[in-house]
Amino acid sequence: MGSGRLASALLAVVLLHHSSGFWIINVVFPPKTKTGALSNSTSPLIIVPGNLGNRLEAKIDKPTLVHWLCYKKTENWFPLWIDINMFMPIGLDCWIDNMRLVYNRTTRRSTNSPGVEVRVPGFGQTYPIEFLDNSQLAGYFHTMVQHLVNAGYVRNETVRGAPYDWRLAPNENAEYLSKLQDLVEEMYNQYQKPVYLLGHSMGCHYVLYFLNHQPQEWKDKYIRGFISLGAPWGGAIKTLRVMASGENDGIPMISNIKIREEQRMVTTNPWMLPFKDVWPKDHVFISTPNFNYTNLDYERFFKDISFEDGWHMWEDTKNLTAALHPPDVEVWCMYGVGLPTVVTYVYDDEFPNGDPVDFVYDDGDDTVDSKSMSLCKRWVGQQKKPVHVTEYRGLSHLDMVFHEEVLNQIQQILQGKSDTPKEIDVRLSAKEQMMV
Ligand SMILES: *[C@@H]1O[C@H](CO)[C@@H](O)[C@H](O)[C@H]1NC(C)=O
Ligand SMILES: *[C@@H]1O[C@H](CO)[C@@H](O)[C@H](O)[C@H]1NC(C)=O
Ligand SMILES: *[C@@H]1O[C@H](CO)[C@@H](O)[C@H](O)[C@H]1NC(C)=O
Ligand SMILES: *[C@@H]1O[C@H](CO)[C@@H](O)[C@H](O)[C@H]1NC(C)=O
Ligand SMILES: *[C@@H]1O[C@H](CO)[C@@H](O)[C@H](O)[C@H]1NC(C)=O
Repeated sequence: MGSGRLASALLAVVLLHHSSGFWIINVVFPPKTKTGALSNSTSPLIIVPGNLGNRLEAKIDKPTLVHWLCYKKTENWFPLWIDINMFMPIGLDCWIDNMRLVYNRTTRRSTNSPGVEVRVPGFGQTYPIEFLDNSQLAGYFHTMVQHLVNAGYVRNETVRGAPYDWRLAPNENAEYLSKLQDLVEEMYNQYQKPVYLLGHSMGCHYVLYFLNHQPQEWKDKYIRGFISLGAPWGGAIKTLRVMASGENDGIPMISNIKIREEQRMVTTNPWMLPFKDVWPKDHVFISTPNFNYTNLDYERFFKDISFEDGWHMWEDTKNLTAALHPPDVEVWCMYGVGLPTVVTYVYDDEFPNGDPVDFVYDDGDDTVDSKSMSLCKRWVGQQKKPVHVTEYRGLSHLDMVFHEEVLNQIQQILQGKSDTPKEIDVRLSAKEQMMV
């Protein structure tokens, strides 16, 4: 199929456009890992990916089409995320129409676009989180899983993925949470050892929500610990920009305003709005010539950007994890610091239909601010189990899942070395390596 080949080539170009910061997917080849064979005493591991962080498949039989070139009906399941055809000119419209959710304010539930079925392939396996596409161009957890395999873990056995429909917040994903519980129990029974849960970004909120809803005896028996990477514990300011004017994350062929259509239809974006009390009441997230929006102005914000469903979605999801109840299992909280991260987006009169014209920065991992990510420190003393916090100076949000320093640290934790350094400077180690 010629157009498929072309699309593959385009995808490769897009994803290799490394500096652009396409924030969840990227191609990083696994570093040469030292094979330090793990003994059989290590605990099994389940990985919960972040937003956009696992494959989705769809099957369609649609009553109407947004464009005559879109497929109306398919016999088989096909990749929806990542769908390489979305990078074609008309493809994006077809893709958005397949991907979107329809929110019902009465039932407070979301459903797929009419005539579209969506499923999450490969629950319990690693392939849907290692690469997001069939051609293995968009690598996500591949580097980490390969590192663990080099160290003695076995794919689909002692290391497994728990992918989910990341368009939905946990209040609409009860089935996933019960599958996750079954997977933990299955692995515990198989290996006779409590299980580690590892999350990245929004996946950490999923893990927290899951743990907050398990009885303590269950956690004491089945969970060895929770490794959280780059968790936006207090929400992410970036989601306001994403919903206001869209954010293509550097994909050159997709305009911000176009991708906004999809970004406004998922309930996970409102869920990740900055939580109340994290920022001072007078901190402005979005500044426009007409109004300065703080965390007291969300209702007005959604109204002004003509996305009032978003306000209802926020109401439905704001209490899910915002209280940050301690997980009550041993925690390793790791995140990047020391990189300029936007904390205020400044718009001109085109708001919300044009990109921001200026930015105010503070400390963070280039995607999430440190104020938000460091909130896990409050669990120290709030729970009996230890809480270990490691800040990686100079490490970006996405690099958390690729960087050798992080992978080595994770390996040590899995091997039973609980204590971790308070800070690791990854810029320093890069320099040192260059000097050698
Ligand atoms: C670990 O256990 C597997 C079977 O469960 C066995 O085949 C293997 O030899 C063991 N490895 C070590 C290092 O004990
Ligand atoms: C929302 O759900 C209610 C109850 O099921 C239904 O009656 C109503 O038609 C739905 N609204 C829309 C816009 O689909
Ligand atoms: C894991 O499962 C997937 C899907 O069944 C399979 O394609 C893959 O080969 C498996 N990996 C290993 C190492 O067994
Ligand atoms: C928004 O805040 C900025 C900076 O504090 C201020 O200069 C501006 O006048 C404010 N705009 C509005 C509409 O309140
Ligand atoms: C959310 O939490 C607030 C305060 O913690 C509470 O007043 C409110 O009733 C909760 N809302 C829901 C829907 O649970």
